[in-house]
Amino acid sequence: MTLAQTQSVALLGLDGHVVGVEVDIADGLPGYSLLGLPDAALSESRDRVRSAIVNCGEVWPNRKVTVSLSPAWLPKSGSSFDLAICISLLSAHETVPAEKIAEIVFLGELSLDGRIRSVRGVLPALIAAFKAGITTAVVPADNLKEAQLMQGMEIVPMHHLKQVLRWLRTGERQQEQEFDLQWEHSDSRLDFADVAGQPAARLAAEIAAVGGHHIMLIGPPGAGKTMIAERIPTIMPALSIEQALEVTAVHSIAGTLMQRSPLSLLAPIVSPHHTTTRVAMVGGGSHVIKPGACSLAHYGVLFIDEAPECGPGVLDSLRQPLESGTITIARSIGNVTFPAQFLLVLAANPCPCGKFTGRGRNCTCTSQQVRRYLGKLSGPLMDRIDLRVQVEPVGRVDMAKTQLGESSVVIRDRVIAARAVAAQRFANMGWSLNSQIPARALRTEFQPERAAMNFLHDELDREHITARGLHKIIRTAWSFADLKGNKLPTMDDVMAAYTLRGKVEA
Ligand SMILES: Nc1ncnc2c1ncn2[C@@H]1O[C@H](COP(=O)(O)OP(=O)(O)O)[C@@H](O)[C@H]1O
Ligand SMILES: [Mg+2]
Ligand SMILES: [Zn+2]
Repeated sequence: MTLAQTQSVALLGLDGHVVGVEVDIADGLPGYSLLGLPDAALSESRDRVRSAIVNCGEVWPNRKVTVSLSPAWLPKSGSSFDLAICISLLSAHETVPAEKIAEIVFLGELSLDGRIRSVRGVLPALIAAFKAGITTAVVPADNLKEAQLMQGMEIVPMHHLKQVLRWLRTGERQQEQEFDLQWEHSDSRLDFADVAGQPAARLAAEIAAVGGHHIMLIGPPGAGKTMIAERIPTIMPALSIEQALEVTAVHSIAGTLMQRSPLSLLAPIVSPHHTTTRVAMVGGGSHVIKPGACSLAHYGVLFIDEAPECGPGVLDSLRQPLESGTITIARSIGNVTFPAQFLLVLAANPCPCGKFTGRGRNCTCTSQQVRRYLGKLSGPLMDRIDLRVQVEPVGRVDMAKTQLGESSVVIRDRVIAARAVAAQRFANMGWSLNSQIPARALRTEFQPERAAMNFLHDELDREHITARGLHKIIRTAWSFADLKGNKLPTMDDVMAAYTLRGKVEA
């Protein structure tokens, strides 16, 4: 036998494609060629594979080696093909039984001494392999936890090339300790009970979680904005298993499963720094297209602290995901789309020095600077922010109280109940959250009570609010109504929403 074939997987965004890895060893001048659109990292596989083979005491064929990855048109990148190429090569060299490897998918990077290194994208790769009818996968042992999520496949975790060869030749393998498939429901480190006082901001956070309303927190440094934002995921409903798998797949491709457990049902939170680039925010990259912060926050919270300090265009790049829940990255090899359905939480100081309180105490900024500062955020982005909350530093009375605030579990139960009411109301409508009610539906089916509506129209006539502001208020009022069990938003619900609307509007 001088020809052998096995499989690996190429990823384009979240979509995996099974790739045939075929090796032919022919007589002729010793050489090595790799066919099938490899990128630089993949082209270097030759050196890794060769060293690994030699260092494991195997024989490198001193003949003409041709490796062909098919389909040829599909761009292939990275080092995760190393193991498949190595095994296929040894099989073509007749040192590994060919019939054994024909039905297996191999994922893993080889280090020079034969150790198998973890790779990104194992979960989406396995999903693709499973869909293609492959039932056995060899994966790097370090990726086992994530790989085990692919139930219905036999997962063979391996640390070293030598182990793989022993298994293929003799069927012997050392049992890895499997992880319990225990989904993690909560993060005990963060709890709303830690937040003293701040009734308005707490309520706004709860409403944001109920209706999926994007929110902006404005206040001086030390007021607790970051503290509150970080706790929003703890009051959001747990992810369904399907949602969790999607989130894990995105994190797997980005290589961020060290920070987030593959088995977490907690809504993710991602906090890019304000110096972050557009690519880091929405995704991209030159060889491998990686998801950005907005996709890592899928089904969770995207928290941007000191939002007015973000570079030009960075925040605006969020417009597509805010609009559609997905982000598309255009590339010559084709477009790649990642999911990006997140709750946006912005935090900002009231002015460049941060100390502006309305009375101007301590603030060293000019009134023009103060006005301009938050103005940087106006426009299409602010259109999407339903809630805008002033966070004042907590007073000493609240800080001195020994009694803890309401805990996240209690708030979360209310959020879950309110969301269920909304989901039932919107069944078959194509959206499920109050923040997603389209403008037309707000004017027809989803008006608040008559008196409340009259009040809003009066406010509109007096130019106290804009038409856009009116819509934000009604959407938010629905979340208050759902929380309180009102069939329609009442005057009280509308008033409550009114105080939480974006004060400065475009
Ligand atoms: N309401 C509060 N309850 C308890 N601690 C608070 C509160 N507000 C601020 N703190 C304390 O102050 C620290 C700084 O708060 P932080 O959330 O970072 O403020 P900001 O983001 O507004 O600058 C917190 O880590 C916390 O220890
Ligand atoms: Mg902060
Ligand atoms: Zn200032």
